Amino acid sequence: MEEKINEISKLKEEALSEVNAATNAKELDEVRVKYLGKKGELTSILRSMGSLAPEERPVIGGKVNEARDEIDSNIKLGEEKFAKEELARKLKEETIDITLPSTKVKRGSKHPLNRIIEEVEDLFVSMGYDVVTGPELETDEYCFERLNLPKGHPARDMQDSFYITSEYLLRTQTSAVQARTMMANEEKSPIRVICPGKTYRRDDDATHSHQFSQVEGLVIDKNISLADLKGTLEVFVRKMLGENLELRFRPSYFPFTEPSYEVDVSCFKCGGKGCNLCKQTGWIEVLGSGMVHPNVLKMNGYDPDKYTGFAFGTGLDRLAMFKYGITDIRLLYQNDVRFLNQFDRLDR
Ligand code: DAH
Repeated sequence: MEEKINEISKLKEEALSEVNAATNAKELDEVRVKYLGKKGELTSILRSMGSLAPEERPVIGGKVNEARDEIDSNIKLGEEKFAKEELARKLKEETIDITLPSTKVKRGSKHPLNRIIEEVEDLFVSMGYDVVTGPELETDEYCFERLNLPKGHPARDMQDSFYITSEYLLRTQTSAVQARTMMANEEKSPIRVICPGKTYRRDDDATHSHQFSQVEGLVIDKNISLADLKGTLEVFVRKMLGENLELRFRPSYFPFTEPSYEVDVSCFKCGGKGCNLCKQTGWIEVLGSGMVHPNVLKMNGYDPDKYTGFAFGTGLDRLAMFKYGITDIRLLYQNDVRFLNQFDRLDR
């Protein structure tokens, strides 16, 4: 019995010194298996209890359990210590120095044309207009015929078109959407829309691009008069280009309006005194407009005896050029970052 007790305390001392010597969690686990595992050295003493005298059993069993508990709690302490060390090591290794300068995030900015389009849309939506769109690949019917421009009409020469087939072309004007909007309105009820979009003509110089952008306006209702057109365009031009500008309505010709006007605005660069921008005239042409031609109303299903309307169209590129002092329209379509970069300061 004495001998067994000595054996147990020797095993315990050995185990504890191995626990002490362990340098990581894996080694601790090996100690656990060696002494406390199913085939462990202390466990095997418990197994052999059958061969002991009955009075020895509780004494030896008690000693083994004591030793087990002590070894076990030392292993646990060791494990905790290693876990803490491991956590501290990770925290140290993985710290991020948030004071280091970051890599620069390149941020784009809104294209000047999109700025203009959004501004025009906001203005007209605030006045109760809808924003509508139409296809860029358009039919001759909508681009010309339904706008009172039958085949062979001399005014077709005003616009150099890209025809794809004899029936299809790249639309030369957003006016095509006028006809589409009227035709799509089955009840033939009042209309108040603007249509911004891309347009195409066979042009290419500093002030003309083969692809450019227009916005069209169309209002149809009972008792619409020239006064409505004038008031609307005044609000439009003054909001976009300057509150104190004067407008001048110059009689002109468009096949889809009668009467028709070209609208000039007093030069916002020189105030009307004459400069290089207005070519010394004091005025700059900004819009085409007029009262919707009765033929156009009729052709698109509206009764000209019941309804009247006005329409207008303008180049968005020109508006952007005026507003931002851009001298070459092609800059708007080349996507040169050095050019586009300059507009991000408008967001700051
Ligand atoms: N579509 C014409 C153009 O591209 C501009 C225009 C003039 C539009 C008169 C209109 C209008 O709606 O009434 O030159």
